[in-house]
Amino acid sequence: MPYYVTTPIYYVNGEPHLGHAYTTIAADVLARHMRQRGEDVFFLTGTDEHGEPVAQAAEKLGITPRELGDRNAGRFRELAERLNVTNDFFIRTTDEEHMAKVAEVVQRIHDNGHVYAGTYEGWYCPRCADFKTESELEDGNRCPIHKIELEIEKEDNWFFRLSSFQEPLEKLYAERTDFVTPQNRYNEALAFIKSGLRDLSLSRAHLKWGVPVPWDHSQVIYVWIDALLNYYTALSFARDGEDLTDRFWPATFHVIGKDILKFHTVFWPAMLLAAGIPLPEHVFVHGFLLGADGRKMSKSLGNVLDPFEVIDRYGTEALRYYLLRDVTFGADGSTSFDAVRARYEGELANELGNLASRTIAMITRYRDGAVPEAELDPSMVAEFDGLPDEVSALMDRGELTQALETIWQRVRRLNRYVEEQAPWQLAKDEARAGDLDSVLRTLADGLRAVTVLLSPWLPESSVTLLDALGTPDLALSGAALDGGRVQRVSPLEPLFPKPS
Ligand code: MSP
Repeated sequence: MPYYVTTPIYYVNGEPHLGHAYTTIAADVLARHMRQRGEDVFFLTGTDEHGEPVAQAAEKLGITPRELGDRNAGRFRELAERLNVTNDFFIRTTDEEHMAKVAEVVQRIHDNGHVYAGTYEGWYCPRCADFKTESELEDGNRCPIHKIELEIEKEDNWFFRLSSFQEPLEKLYAERTDFVTPQNRYNEALAFIKSGLRDLSLSRAHLKWGVPVPWDHSQVIYVWIDALLNYYTALSFARDGEDLTDRFWPATFHVIGKDILKFHTVFWPAMLLAAGIPLPEHVFVHGFLLGADGRKMSKSLGNVLDPFEVIDRYGTEALRYYLLRDVTFGADGSTSFDAVRARYEGELANELGNLASRTIAMITRYRDGAVPEAELDPSMVAEFDGLPDEVSALMDRGELTQALETIWQRVRRLNRYVEEQAPWQLAKDEARAGDLDSVLRTLADGLRAVTVLLSPWLPESSVTLLDALGTPDLALSGAALDGGRVQRVSPLEPLFPKPS
């Protein structure tokens, strides 16, 4: 089955930060998990390079917007690499093929009768590149996101008849109750639609940095319309000489943060309906990472957790694990270096790392590294029963933290099993050699099963560990406790050493 997962494309006017890392890691975990299920996966990320904020930032630096794009797109690519994410393509909205396709789709929306000329007047936030309604404004006519004072702007624009999609969108939400998850975000999007949709200006007259409106080159296409279309255009040129659109469209899963809900759950489906393009299957909306003090992260508050610092000290695996473990995916949550340390030491090193090293050490000591051919302990088999399906079902709903917790319970269960069975006692009693065989085999195969399941979160450590178990296969079909057999173990360096 095709599975197409996307991240938002990131603005190149800012530095890559923890929030960007978070969405990108989450999408990667989904992509890796689906590959384990044997699905035909395409995973897209990239950069959003047009629009007013980028043009302004470039001007401030005294360089062209393209130069700024080149510089910062490189930094977002580097971030993706350091996070060990497996995106199949990195799109930039300045890619010529993207721009040509945007013009083509917008022309289609126009030709289908959904565009007209009008004048727009409203509160405009240049940092959001978006007009705000009266009800969205905060005291002092401030942007609810950027807190800056807004001004009324007026210009002649081309308009997209968003209002005529009110009914089709309500119908969509009634028919597909899992179009947006979690439920509170579905409710929020539906409430926005029901509050009445106003037409949307589709172009900007005073800006040059963007895709020209195909029938009126004096204007450029509104940056959000250009940006949203990346999900669709990328498939047509990601592979030289091959168009992947039929294979992967519609997208399966758009992963986004709550700040861009309206664009993805209202404007985007309306645009696609207007262009006659099938709609994506799901939009998953995650919450915001906050500073240790529970406030929005900001340099001036000094509460920013820098992903690069975490990676330098604890490694990429720790960051991937921490972010999806400590903050429930879908909700807001605070972050701190101390919390990273606690998860690293308390769980990765002391629970998983310890389980791996003691399992391998005992098999080496008591059985010369050969895993005995013995019965698996039926009580443990029962506790692992149905685990891969349970994890898959959670992943299908975007519940990445619950899925991780479900697996981690088995890591803890295996550690308790070691304590309960006390193999070091069994080893002293020749008459109990059969019991020891069974315990060691149960531990080896159980460790293999949890490692396979954990690999989307901990891709590197999983490969190292599975190599030591001599069972490199990552297929989820083998992730049951009786799904595959460890024959021999080999020595393993500590997976999560104390940072120096
Ligand atoms: N360019 C637009 C998106 C266009 S998608 C067609 C944009 N870019 S952005 O650079 O501002 O990145 C926004 C995304 O970064 C958010 O939706 C979210 O996924 C992520 N985050 C940014 N700050 C965040 C936090 N503090 N916490 C969690 N994620 C946040 O908007």
